[in-house]
Amino acid sequence: MTATAHARPRSLSGIQATSDSLHLGNYIGALQQFVAQQETSDAWYFIANMHAITVPQDPAKLRERTLLTAAQFIAAGVDPERSVLFVQSQVDAHPKLGWIMECVASEGEARRMTQFKDKSAKNEQVSLGLLTYPALMAADILLYQADVVPVGEDQRQHLELTRNLAERFNKRFGHTFTVPEPGIVKETAKIYDLQDPTAKMSKSAQSPAGLVGILDEPKAIAKKFKSAVTDDGTEVAFDREAKPGVSNLLTIYSSLAGVDMATAVEHFEGKMYGHLKGELADLAVETLAPVRERTLELLADRAELTRILAAGAQRAAEVADPTVAAAYERVGFL
Ligand code: TRP
Repeated sequence: MTATAHARPRSLSGIQATSDSLHLGNYIGALQQFVAQQETSDAWYFIANMHAITVPQDPAKLRERTLLTAAQFIAAGVDPERSVLFVQSQVDAHPKLGWIMECVASEGEARRMTQFKDKSAKNEQVSLGLLTYPALMAADILLYQADVVPVGEDQRQHLELTRNLAERFNKRFGHTFTVPEPGIVKETAKIYDLQDPTAKMSKSAQSPAGLVGILDEPKAIAKKFKSAVTDDGTEVAFDREAKPGVSNLLTIYSSLAGVDMATAVEHFEGKMYGHLKGELADLAVETLAPVRERTLELLADRAELTRILAAGAQRAAEVADPTVAAAYERVGFL
């Protein structure tokens, strides 16, 4: 089997399961798009638990977070009937093609990755897996002949490397892989910390008050919005430089309300910052409370959740296994 043209573009993305609750930045930046993409694409999503162990993880926590992350995907609207939802470690083709990609990539290329440089500077012990991480990521993508890979700006360099590896392999061994396009999530979908609106919302936030978890209790969500940092002046306007706090709140509002920025700004014309915070608190609770409830329901029936993931892994293997077989054949494995 070689690269095929799909009737609908095939979109594939992965997310690491390294926290209990996804946060609002993941929800708006990734999950909302994943859900929307089911309408227009042949959508494939997976939990990158093999990438997670490139830095030390507690085994019990990793297992729990893998299930929790999958549950949050489904609760947010990723429909395992329409999309293929699976766990990376449950599809053996990933490390198999990952190894081949490690041998197609050069050490120098891997060392040039800014994520490797950042993470290796932060950790005392640097695993070999942290260096070869992008080769496994390339395998994740190429196994499925993905046309487009929706990821954040921070993954652009890895995607560029994936494209290079696909082209290099195809040239050396014959056409085998689709060269994927990056589907970089637009800047407007970038969500900042509610307490420090110049820093990206992230699980390593300085203060938990700045980070909104999908699984936070509704009361906690409302409180975080009501105590969000705003800016000098009184006018609700979008201006990332002069008004980072208000601009972030407007971005969140426009994403959750499903309206464009001009409409969001107009909606709050002549209103005070407090009004924006209050209305946004209500909207966020209204949006996230059902996701939280559905996640808890899914987690109450782990056998069913496990079954859904096993079925996803099986569907994934049906596509990934023939790709690996083709790559094995091409490189000369018996
Ligand atoms: N590296 C990605 C991240 O940390 C996760 C990931 C792993 C991924 N494999 C992938 C994303 C394949 C897209 C496609 O966000």
